[in-house]
Amino acid sequence: MKETVLNKFEEVFGDVEGVKVFFAPGRVNLIGEHTDYNGGHVFPCALTIGTYGAARVRQDKKLRFYSMNFEQLGVIESSLEDMKPEKEADWTNYPKGVMWAFEKKGFQIPKGMDILLNGNIPNGSGLSSSASVEVLTGYILREFFGFDVSNQDLALIGQYSENNFNGVNCGIMDQFAIAMGKKEHAIFLDTADLSYTYAPVKLKGAKLVIACSNKKRGLGDSKYNERRSECETALAELQKVADIKGLGDLTEEQFEEYKTAIADPVRIKRAKHAVYENQRTVKAVAALQADDIAEFGRLMNASHVSLRDDYEVTGIELDTLVEEAWKVEGVIGSRMTGAGFGGCTVSLVQDEAIDRFIDQVGKAYLAKIGYAADFYVVEIGDGPCTL
Ligand code: GLA
Repeated sequence: MKETVLNKFEEVFGDVEGVKVFFAPGRVNLIGEHTDYNGGHVFPCALTIGTYGAARVRQDKKLRFYSMNFEQLGVIESSLEDMKPEKEADWTNYPKGVMWAFEKKGFQIPKGMDILLNGNIPNGSGLSSSASVEVLTGYILREFFGFDVSNQDLALIGQYSENNFNGVNCGIMDQFAIAMGKKEHAIFLDTADLSYTYAPVKLKGAKLVIACSNKKRGLGDSKYNERRSECETALAELQKVADIKGLGDLTEEQFEEYKTAIADPVRIKRAKHAVYENQRTVKAVAALQADDIAEFGRLMNASHVSLRDDYEVTGIELDTLVEEAWKVEGVIGSRMTGAGFGGCTVSLVQDEAIDRFIDQVGKAYLAKIGYAADFYVVEIGDGPCTL
């Protein structure tokens, strides 16, 4: 891949003088969905697929971007002197947003750059291709300009740029999982205070399989921000009767006791998901640590049901993938992952069942939805690096 991006860089930008090549992973969340903006726990991991970037510093303030994933867009240019989100800037609003965020945080970017990207994360799949680009950009800036920022800072700056430059009110999970990724480990992160531990993911005879619905979605045009504000309203209502900072502070029992403080039945369902999903995540990590993979799988399934019925972020594509997965012998657990409304599912599948899983779920999906899903057997990888 290094050679591929270098060759393309030379073709697009003329030469490879001063170019370095970098990588940032994608991520998949194993459990703990829509909890990260509610002060709850998440349990994501970085993947070995991700975004490759070749970059160099220019002598002026110009920015030139090229993506091998959007070749039809050609070279997209802008300037460090004119940093605002623009529709025509398309995907480059992500790296530009990160540069803007560094400047907002007091890091002066002295010179422009030529940047070429090539990702092998399916676009719009819900495996965080945008957060991968954000963390990669931050990593590149740190490498070239020596900014004194930790990987955790790269995650926070990425999230800040997405919230304030790109207008998506995402939580910290994606950027954190990518910036802090560790091979063969998932990250048990408490989003209330960013404390975290790495948990080894030893699946013994099973693998993680991603099924991509191929229903395209972008967080910006999804109901993501709407769900977030429903939770905020429910929290404000609960705060009248309980001394809490986030929905993640409540146990299931406490929620049942206080829930009548929420005036609207839909908001009760939204908040219920956030509370129960957080508790499920804590239980799931304990199950994994106790080597109880079957229990981990059951909690994954329960997570999907809650996202389908209470949080209502699944849709027919994700429901079909998951419900068909549940029918396959050898599937330990299956759920949608990421924001929802399209994107992909994550399943824990026994090795011997993987071919059957892909065949059965793939056929049923095609028959019901009318177009094919894609399947990826994935591995848990490290965070960003220089190649
Ligand atoms: C998206 C957001 C994350 C998180 C998930 C849902 O991936 O970027 O912050 O909220 O949705 O769990």
